[in-house]
Amino acid sequence: MSKIKSQFITLGLIAAMAGFSGCEMKPQHRMTPKAKTSEAAVQKPAAAPVRAGLKPAPTALKIDIKAFGETTDGQQVRLYSLCNANGLKADIMTYGAIVVSLQTPDRKGRMDDIVLGYDNLEDYIKNSPYFGAIVGRYGNRIAKGKFTLDGVEYTLATNNNNVNHLHGGVKGFDKVVWDDEPVWKADAVGVKLSCLSKDGEEGYPGNLKAAVTYTLTNNNELRIDYEATTDKATPVNLTHHGYFNLTGAERDILGHVLALNADRFTPVDEGLIPTGELPAVKGTPMDFTKPTEIGARIAGEYQQLKFGGGYDHNWVLNQRGKEMILAARVYEPTTGRSMEIRTTEPAIQFYSGNFLDGTITGKGGKVYKHRWGFCLETQHYPDSPNKPDFPSTILRPGEKYETTTIYRFSAK
Ligand code: GLA
Repeated sequence: MSKIKSQFITLGLIAAMAGFSGCEMKPQHRMTPKAKTSEAAVQKPAAAPVRAGLKPAPTALKIDIKAFGETTDGQQVRLYSLCNANGLKADIMTYGAIVVSLQTPDRKGRMDDIVLGYDNLEDYIKNSPYFGAIVGRYGNRIAKGKFTLDGVEYTLATNNNNVNHLHGGVKGFDKVVWDDEPVWKADAVGVKLSCLSKDGEEGYPGNLKAAVTYTLTNNNELRIDYEATTDKATPVNLTHHGYFNLTGAERDILGHVLALNADRFTPVDEGLIPTGELPAVKGTPMDFTKPTEIGARIAGEYQQLKFGGGYDHNWVLNQRGKEMILAARVYEPTTGRSMEIRTTEPAIQFYSGNFLDGTITGKGGKVYKHRWGFCLETQHYPDSPNKPDFPSTILRPGEKYETTTIYRFSAK
């Protein structure tokens, strides 16, 4: 028996012993991790061989790469299936850097897909409210699609009700096909996605080189590292627009219990543009400093909730600076699933899926009704390019944009 074959059999045994259910363990072709590939399965050789009498180290990290269709202009799209040693699985495609599915166990070990989306590329292209995508160059809104930088006024698309600029414009980062390469770490697998946003694209100044690395770790984390550089000053605010539903999209998200590490938020006008104030959340339905059901106060007579049609606001995280802090925790009582978000970003947008209205049929034929998913988008504050008092979102030549957000999954 070849050495490789026996390694796969060993992996299969380890998986069976662990009651492993998430990832297929059938032997795959191996290839050099760095090499680019159009369609291949990638299996890295096990780092540490099993030693007699010792509990084997987790060795089931796996990356599968396959074709996932092509865009209307003929660009090939690939789907990366990442699998960690505990059977968690993340499917990520190169179109929009979209997390297509994310499978995590509930308290009984049952795996479910906990993000909304579609089964195929065509549906994402036709009509997606940013399901699972990376949004950029500027996540969230810029008032009236205008900002002035170093004395020059720039005009962007007003793709949000013809009034404001939203999520990078008509063709934002959620609609481009990113370059890809697999990422192997001792305790994680991932994919690095890169794109070039050209000078003037969507009205923004400067050639912006952006890269987003998703890694799925053996600590049951989906980690996102964002990087960017530019050759002209430009606003940059990249975020991930996953719609989570920890029930496995079985019902709406109102029973999820949310905690936000934020004493203040940025109230908005009716167009969802921040007014510039940073009031305390204390005593309002915006107070999630203690774990609270999302649905507990969402229908209250509170003007900010009327403007948002529910929650669609930016919370200011309690600690500023570059270090990673706990931003949010979500617990879903019926399945026991929890999600914890840590970030280096100064704020988080909590959107309660208010625009979902049952007109979208998603994965597996599930109808996404009102508030069937929620987003927690780590970010800088909306409309910062027009708000000199907000932390700056301007990236200049010679600087490096670097942020990290980690979603950690567990169940109890
Ligand atoms: C963001 C915005 C919302 C909405 C969604 C996409 O989270 O804040 O207002 O536009 O994206 O539907």
